[in-house]
Amino acid sequence: MDRGKKLYMSYCLTCHMQNGEGIPGTFPPLANADYLMEDAERSIGQIINGASGEMKVNGVVYNNVMPGFDMTDREIADVLNYIRNSWGNQGEVITEEQVHEVRDK
Ligand code: HEC
Repeated sequence: MDRGKKLYMSYCLTCHMQNGEGIPGTFPPLANADYLMEDAERSIGQIINGASGEMKVNGVVYNNVMPGFDMTDREIADVLNYIRNSWGNQGEVITEEQVHEVRDK
């Protein structure tokens, strides 16, 4: 969690904000986000490759662009474990191996 938090602060905070609240209409929230919690593999892919196009998070449609990040498998697992277990979220642990498998696809 500590490692994930540091990564969040350096890579993600500028858009998704301190407490994962995002900016309504521009940057989707991560706190209590149905979209984040419903598919771990998709989240892994989004951090590797970025995300664009329409997505609906907590009932609000976003259509913006998030860049991909050049992070190691372990860093991606750490940051996801942090956001998936902060701000009211509770998710299963994501492993480096899972990240590796998504990257290989
Ligand atoms: C430059 C701004 C920016 C940065 C930096 C950024 N994101 Fe995003 N993020 C976005 C945008 C914009 C979207 C929505 C993309 C769309 O509309 O298709 C998004 C969507 C997401 C989603 C899916 C939607 C949701 O709310 O569940 C996740 C998960 C996510 N980002 C995680 C991260 C993580 C983790 C980091 C840091 C490694 C990060 N983002 C860094 C802008 C950013």
